[in-house]
Amino acid sequence: MASYLVTGGAGFIGSHISEALVSGGHRVRVADNLVTGYRRNLREGVEFVEADLADATAAAAVVDGMEYVIHQAAIPSVPRSVKNPVESHRANVDGMLNILVAARAAGVKRVVFAGSSSVYGDLPTLPKREDMATNPMTPYALQKLVSEQYGQMFTRLYGLEVVTTRYFNVFGPRQDPGSPYSGVISLFIKALLAGTRPVIYGDGSQTRDFTFVTNVVDGVLRAAAAPAVAGEVFNVATGGRVSLNALLAVLKNIVGSEVEPIYEAGRLGDVRDSQADIGKAERLLGYRPIVTLEEGLRQTVAWFKTGNGSREFS
Ligand code: UD1
Repeated sequence: MASYLVTGGAGFIGSHISEALVSGGHRVRVADNLVTGYRRNLREGVEFVEADLADATAAAAVVDGMEYVIHQAAIPSVPRSVKNPVESHRANVDGMLNILVAARAAGVKRVVFAGSSSVYGDLPTLPKREDMATNPMTPYALQKLVSEQYGQMFTRLYGLEVVTTRYFNVFGPRQDPGSPYSGVISLFIKALLAGTRPVIYGDGSQTRDFTFVTNVVDGVLRAAAAPAVAGEVFNVATGGRVSLNALLAVLKNIVGSEVEPIYEAGRLGDVRDSQADIGKAERLLGYRPIVTLEEGLRQTVAWFKTGNGSREFS
């Protein structure tokens, strides 16, 4: 048994990670400012602290006494960062720096940081490998890149173990479809179940490596436990890619819906194609996707159809 701080643990991905850690018999503290997280996502058995990690004192207080920090807290939206770069910089970069400083002071064994595939931008080579050039196209992507580089610098300068997991378009139960900034799969499912027409920005031929949250949890726990990976960056994804048009067709089939999408102008800063090479995570972490895209979509639709899911529609 070890002690873990999960920042952003009231959010979508963080709540799944804290749930897995509690199931594994670990002591879990969640720190969350409830800006994009919800109390209802807090899993039984976790200690909850409402805290804004952009405040250095608050960050130090929540890190104190913890062996591992799984840093998921963020404002996780590309378009929201385009609209309000200062707000997302504060959450995404100031929060990370404060966590690193606090983790070093507290003698934390390892920090695992939630990075993003957006750092690759739209450079044409696919699939994306961790040693390829980065090309952030939005404030969000730059903030995630700066944060992972801060992590690597803390490893080199101070010997703090920091590992970055670059997520590729994560989806699953508890993803919140409540804002226009929500992940596309949650918005598509919400529309299909409500019988309304989903919106596709652009012509729908852009592709993504959509990753079911169970795979992400597995990747993160491996990144926390693997030997000799301090300072490393890992893609956490499935290694495939699907267009938005194809994704919608699969979802319509699962839901049994016939509605047609509305096509609108493409989003500013939108990446055209995204697909991960997961070879490095396979080699150094023993990571392999557990749940396929289609199975993940089925589980997500099933969850949205339950009473739990319907709360997300309010
Ligand atoms: C990006 C990152 C991802 C990151 C996430 C955080 C890339 C390639 N991916 O996702 O790693 O974790 O931000 O939020 O940069 N769309 C529609 N209709 C909608 C909503 C979205 O067509 O109603 C389109 C978008 O224009 C985009 C795609 O769906 O082409 C995916 O959008 P979204 O789910 O918001 O995620 P990304 O911006 O790709």
